[in-house]
Amino acid sequence: MIYRLPEIHDQDELQNYVQEHCDHHEAGISASMGLTSSRYSDWVEKIHQNALAGDELWGKSLLYLCFDKGRLIGLLSIRYNLPESVRNQYGDIGYGVRPSERRKGYASGMLRYALDVCREKGMDMVILGCYKDNLASAATIQKNGGVLIKENDDYGEGRISQYYRINL
Ligand SMILES: CC(C)(COP(=O)(O)OP(=O)(O)OC[C@H]1O[C@@H](n2cnc3c(N)ncnc32)[C@H](O)[C@@H]1OP(=O)(O)O)[C@@H](O)C(=O)NCCC(=O)NCCS
Repeated sequence: MIYRLPEIHDQDELQNYVQEHCDHHEAGISASMGLTSSRYSDWVEKIHQNALAGDELWGKSLLYLCFDKGRLIGLLSIRYNLPESVRNQYGDIGYGVRPSERRKGYASGMLRYALDVCREKGMDMVILGCYKDNLASAATIQKNGGVLIKENDDYGEGRISQYYRINL
């Protein structure tokens, strides 16, 4: 797998990635950090800015495009510098895999890679959040050593959020 920040020349590939989600009736693009609501060049600039200097809410963070054999497989967000309050609500790592490439082990590998990055950044544990009914994400986290630390109805909408801890 190749992991790297997005560049201007990735626009068509990302458009295709978003379209595939739409074709599968998935409105949100996980870990995309506002991709579909921004002008593409502004988004690329913001992602690079986040990697270099960070922003007020999220601190420094990495948004990697994940390629296998030249094909964009997924997005991986590594927020290794979060303020404590945000960390406990959103978690340190987010990811998504395009619908046609799911259940092939990609997310498990992407999370494993993210944990290596966090370790290199000096972290000794990470927090990950997902909805309880997102069995695929929960399984991905558990496969990588995640231990459930809390469950609650964060948004008062009857959908339970789970938070996991992984010691590095
Ligand atoms: C969650 C997601 C990233 C998983 O990606 P993936 O590449 O299919 O995951 P993997 O192939 O690595 O599978 C990881 C584990 O999840 C399990 N799994 C995958 N899809 C599943 C599903 N639909 N239902 C139940 N378990 C599932 C796999 O069996 C595997 O566990 P196992 O090895 O013990 O069998 C993908 O479904 C996705 O992009 N979903 C939409 C975005 C999202 O939910 N992101 C996470 C937000 S918290």
